[in-house]
Amino acid sequence: MSSFLPFSTGTRLPPCQIVIFGATGDLTARKLIPAVVDNARLQAFPMPVQVIGVARTAQDTETFRNQLQAWLNPEQRAVWAEFAPNIHYFSIGSGTPQDYADLKQELEDLAGPAAPECGRLFYLALAPALFAPTVEKLAAHSMLVDDQLRVDAWRRVVIEKPFGTDLGTAQWLNLTLRKYLREDQIYRIDHYLGKETVQNLLSFRFQNAIFEPLWNRQHIESVEISVCETLGMESGRAGYYDTSGALRDMVANHMLQLLCLTAMEAPGSLDADSVRGEKFKVLSALESFRDSQDVWDNVVRGQYVSTPNLKGYSEEQGVPPRSQTETYVAIRARIHNWRWNGVPFFLRTGKRLNRRFSEIVVHFRVPPVDLFSGPLAADVCRLRPNSLTLKIQPQEGMQLSFLVKQPGAKPIMRQATLGFDYKDLFAGDTTPAYQRLLLDATMGQATLFIRGDEAEAAWRFCDSVRAGWQDPEAPPPFTYPAGSDGPLQAADLFRGCEGTWSAGHE
Ligand code: BG6
Repeated sequence: MSSFLPFSTGTRLPPCQIVIFGATGDLTARKLIPAVVDNARLQAFPMPVQVIGVARTAQDTETFRNQLQAWLNPEQRAVWAEFAPNIHYFSIGSGTPQDYADLKQELEDLAGPAAPECGRLFYLALAPALFAPTVEKLAAHSMLVDDQLRVDAWRRVVIEKPFGTDLGTAQWLNLTLRKYLREDQIYRIDHYLGKETVQNLLSFRFQNAIFEPLWNRQHIESVEISVCETLGMESGRAGYYDTSGALRDMVANHMLQLLCLTAMEAPGSLDADSVRGEKFKVLSALESFRDSQDVWDNVVRGQYVSTPNLKGYSEEQGVPPRSQTETYVAIRARIHNWRWNGVPFFLRTGKRLNRRFSEIVVHFRVPPVDLFSGPLAADVCRLRPNSLTLKIQPQEGMQLSFLVKQPGAKPIMRQATLGFDYKDLFAGDTTPAYQRLLLDATMGQATLFIRGDEAEAAWRFCDSVRAGWQDPEAPPPFTYPAGSDGPLQAADLFRGCEGTWSAGHE
């Protein structure tokens, strides 16, 4: 007997079609199809699911299925023969009105008797310039009509990143989308929110009573958020990346989402609007930089240069000569609210660094009196004994650091840690981000997606950084050797006894 729900009427929940635009692209083959197959394999979808890949290329369904198979892991391949009949391909040609009318008909035909109640998720895995025109064309053919009274025949649209390139373009995109869709039909994706360890930030903070009383400016001295990559430019990516840079590619979305989850107040509930409302408040309190000098003092941008073994950014294929695009950015950010005023949030992300790790380190203040070291000279910094590290990847876990007394007559203190590793407690790997997010989107759960106002607030902050860089007086990006830990100048963002960047926890 088939382990998949048959695509038919009369099931627990009405069926759903996932319509992927950009079906011949990388994201579809590498992430989306494996995520759908895994959700089906693990019977996570509470409804029968059909996938319809849509792209310009003229090819048939059989060819499409064969291309996808190459990207599956052995577990996915084991169920492929059974699931593949649920995958179809439709060539949209040049996207004329007739092409869209044909697509509409094809979706109805594929849904068969289930068509009137079949929900549809339009996943736009497209170049950003095509988001608005595609939604306009779908709307022109009444394919986005979601009658709220008939909850079953829902229509939703998933938008990949980047959501605009600055505040103005994000506002324009939001306005355009909202002409045809309600906000609750729009799912702006940030795959970091689908990561298990990122979701755990909320659970950890708000399901445990011991840390929350300390989670504020009285007890926390600074917060460090790092997303460090060893990857340089993957082939074919320079065209996009060179117009984006680390600020738009990573800070405007992933990094600021991590900051929000670390800094937000407890939401009233886990529903989409409560959580996103609290994140929006953090982004609204995130201080934009006042002027160019403020940017130069608090933001460091860098670009990797060649070493005997590794290419520099400007030698990567497709990068224009003399490009000034930043492949690294470090920011000393400020949140102007009661909880966080005066606590620096250090953000850092970069390509071609010496280690790949993402983590959040919360540094607690030193005790008011040091009984063990005796009085220190005014200019000597005391050791910061307590920090909590939330390891996001590749290690997944947590670590709490503290001081203990070394056995013996002398009062010598040593750093010790308490650690938790996901692998020790939970067998198997954590669920990949896209698997979780696709499931949530089909189920109408928007908590892990970004609301329009959040996207705009994030751009407002990033635009203030770019304004400082665009100043004709602005210094060019600092350089750092490929495979190093970034530009040395990034250490200057720490002042006085604030310490320096974490080397990353293994
Ligand atoms: C993407 C960026 O959104 O995230 C990439 O465009 C980056 O440049 C990637 O490499 C990092 O994601 P992850 O999940 O590998 O940390």
